[in-house]
Amino acid sequence: MKRILALFALWPLWLWAQESSIQIIPQPQHLEQGNGRYTLHNATFSLRLDGSEAHELADYISTSPLQLKRSRSEKADVRIFLDETGKNFESDEAYSLKADTTGIEISARHEAGLFYGFQTLLQLSRQPITLERVGCVLFPKEEGDFEVPYVNIDDAPRFKWRGMHMDVSRHFFSPRQIKKQLRMMARYKLNRFHWHLTDDSGWRLELKSYPQLTQTTAYRPVAHYMDWSEQGRRFCNKDTKGASGGCYTRAEVRDIIDYARRLHITVVPEIEMPGHSWEVLATFPELACSGKGYENSELCIGNDKTFTFVEKVLSEVMEIFPSEYIHIGGDEADRSHWAKCSKCQARMQREGLSDVRELQSYFTRRVEDFLARHGRKMVGWDEIIEGGLSPRATVMSWRGEEGGITAARTGHDAIMTPWVCYLDNAQDFPIYEPRGIGGYLPIRRCYDYDPVPAALTEQEARHILGVQANLWAEFIPTEAHQEYMYYPRLCAIAETAWTKPQAKNYERFRAKALGEVEWLKRQGYYPFELKYEYGDRVEAQHPIAHKAIGRPITYVTPVSPKYPGSGDNTLVDGLRGGFTYQDGRWQGFESKDFDVTIDLGSVEDISHVEAEFIQRLDQWIWMPREVIVYGSEDGQNFTELGRQQNDVDPQIPGFQFRHYGWTGQARARYVRYVALQNGHPGGWIFTDEIVVQ
Ligand code: ACM
Repeated sequence: MKRILALFALWPLWLWAQESSIQIIPQPQHLEQGNGRYTLHNATFSLRLDGSEAHELADYISTSPLQLKRSRSEKADVRIFLDETGKNFESDEAYSLKADTTGIEISARHEAGLFYGFQTLLQLSRQPITLERVGCVLFPKEEGDFEVPYVNIDDAPRFKWRGMHMDVSRHFFSPRQIKKQLRMMARYKLNRFHWHLTDDSGWRLELKSYPQLTQTTAYRPVAHYMDWSEQGRRFCNKDTKGASGGCYTRAEVRDIIDYARRLHITVVPEIEMPGHSWEVLATFPELACSGKGYENSELCIGNDKTFTFVEKVLSEVMEIFPSEYIHIGGDEADRSHWAKCSKCQARMQREGLSDVRELQSYFTRRVEDFLARHGRKMVGWDEIIEGGLSPRATVMSWRGEEGGITAARTGHDAIMTPWVCYLDNAQDFPIYEPRGIGGYLPIRRCYDYDPVPAALTEQEARHILGVQANLWAEFIPTEAHQEYMYYPRLCAIAETAWTKPQAKNYERFRAKALGEVEWLKRQGYYPFELKYEYGDRVEAQHPIAHKAIGRPITYVTPVSPKYPGSGDNTLVDGLRGGFTYQDGRWQGFESKDFDVTIDLGSVEDISHVEAEFIQRLDQWIWMPREVIVYGSEDGQNFTELGRQQNDVDPQIPGFQFRHYGWTGQARARYVRYVALQNGHPGGWIFTDEIVVQ
């Protein structure tokens, strides 16, 4: 009993300690903390800034939770001003913030910096905790004042492009929900909202030029994308009973753009072409190679009408969206349709194009040229590199970093969004997470990513504009689920986007993220409960010891260049793979037996050889049919030590992990491990480690 009372007595202290540490996401580049705090009590602010921006910023500050009143006095508690003394701010988004006995000063060379300085102030401000006795227990009581620790902050972003992407085609999200996320983007100093407005599953942008697009495809008879995808991919009229979906009117879009602008966020629209256009072809079948809708997703590039359509759509998009960049998609087109189309073939002949990749490149160039003539820049997914990159294109690198590297090396700008930025992957033990796209992406993986590939020179690295979190919505039918996938991983990507590597620190970030989750919940968001994070597979959490570690390994069948793990040492590095085969610890073998030999260096007694495998039907990965282990003393003559057959049902869904091998007594210097293909054409085998004991 005494111990319990002691805990109650310590609880306020613990709360105080939690509240008093400075927690700003993203971490400022330079932060010094002083002793003491400034109390904002019936506090005022002054703002030295001209023009309409001044009204907007003043409005934003006046309506913030700090409840500051505008004052003309030079002695306001919070003094916000453009610094004209020539102080060397790194960029328009840079700012300084000082809090001391005289109050708080935020300065910058541009209004954007003042806005970010104020975001930092919002995160620094804490309501002091006073305690109230209820019976024999002390409870914290909230009052209207705020306290700001004495600090000296000089801050500036690492990257210009700090993006968040939202897919509203697979599932529709309301303007209210979008604005709710924009507010968090501003809090985390993100500045590009990549709005994926069109895709196979619905065109969401109401256009004057083609009202049929939303009239025909904004609604469907089934609510969940996966059901829609598996049940014929049909659309329906808005008034059909049970119709699900929606679209944004031009007025709603303009309102969102303006809302974002006030938060210093540019809305970058994505209009998918020439693939992912099932919904366009359902509306305008004449733009398909076959002239029929509901067959494929690729616009016919041989047809001049396609260009008329695209240019008219983009003209209206440019009229609505002031963004310098327009995203034209460009990913995952099934080019085989163009190979079979007489109009596409005729175009290729006329234009001297040697293959369908060049045909797509021809299309992209024409679109880029059209946008450039209207003063806009084109950005596209990294497939736009294939067949030749348009001269001024910016590449969004999603299939790993290769696209970004190629772009930067050829003088093009790039934005990095490899799979560690794909928040549609599960963030914890995938078996217990909502159904998702298939991978495992814990917050630490997001945090540790550096968007500047080591392979680039300093000069080339200047082309890396930034980094972006992507959230595809195939498996995300609700607002709460969407937020669960964004937060708190978005905080990790925001810190990577803003904070220079030398100021990053995962342990500190994690403590901040734990606090941020509680804050998000109090604001009505639905973040992942980071404090209950299970973490990676237990097997992957600690290195293992065995006889083959670091020994030379030869491959009879080469590993797939798509999944090489972390190189030739992967299978003998003592590291088991985690929940995802994309974590650099698994090696993938496509449509092949897997056959390797390890040289132990000298003849040894061995008693056990095993390797581990994954089965993931949705990713086309199976267990091997059978494994065979051989031993040899001279590397010439091998004896079969044993074999083991697969015992996992090849139809079973979900994650399966199994070890297969041999146990016995033998002497060998060379150990050969063979895993026979599972018999599924195009199927994969993935393994992480060959353990020899
Ligand atoms: C993409 O994830 N298909 C760009």
